[in-house]
Amino acid sequence: MSQPLAIISAMEGELRAILEQLTHQEMVRVGPRDFWRGHWHGQPVVAVLSRIGKVAAATTATVLVERFAVSRMVFTGVAGGLGSGVAVGDVVVAKRFLQHDLDASPLFPRFEVPLYGRSHFDTDERLGSALAQAAQTVLADVVGLLGELAVREFSLTAPRLHRGLIISGDRFVSSTRESVALQQTLPDALAVEMEGAAVAQVCHDYGIPFAAVRTISDRADEGAHRDFKRFMDHVASRYSAAIISEMLRRL
Ligand code: ADE
Repeated sequence: MSQPLAIISAMEGELRAILEQLTHQEMVRVGPRDFWRGHWHGQPVVAVLSRIGKVAAATTATVLVERFAVSRMVFTGVAGGLGSGVAVGDVVVAKRFLQHDLDASPLFPRFEVPLYGRSHFDTDERLGSALAQAAQTVLADVVGLLGELAVREFSLTAPRLHRGLIISGDRFVSSTRESVALQQTLPDALAVEMEGAAVAQVCHDYGIPFAAVRTISDRADEGAHRDFKRFMDHVASRYSAAIISEMLRRL
């Protein structure tokens, strides 16, 4: 049998929407996590909830390699928008990741991962392109996916796809002061979240292709936590399942 593709979600609502699509499901518990083996569009997959933060994400990714021998990993989740023009309801497909809270200076330059000689980890070009094309297709008909009411409630009239740098750190960024500081220090950053760079580093260690998609749930400012749960349930989890489905059809 071919090696499975891993689908990692940070939030329960997204995993639920994904599990609804899997056939021939079997659950395997490793430590505190449930790993769901199944098939989607005829392809073997393993879906799992990473939980939140870089350590949880790195542990999950390592188990996926060591215990499930996955061939590729895709991360799906939400993120705070940083770049100008990266609005709530938009989607970002990562080209590369960086840990914005990593600083071993003066021993190493700020953001550099000690003993790797680099601060950025690239995603896989082929997997990332398939994910971006899938996201583009889904965004072209959000009314069809979510219905008129949700599109109006969340002002999703013309959601856009962005590709570029996503930054990760063990902080939920919820103040204008902090998001402006991040934008000034890392002007290329499109979005901020709490897991992607950790998974990217594990995939780099093991030579596993990795791609990630994030729906923008907030602008990383004082309103970041408002309506977070409703947005997750009504928008992000539906985007995720639709985008991953469309991507798997293309692989
Ligand atoms: N995930 C979603 N929104 C976020 C934010 N503002 N900061 C960090 N992670 C996030």
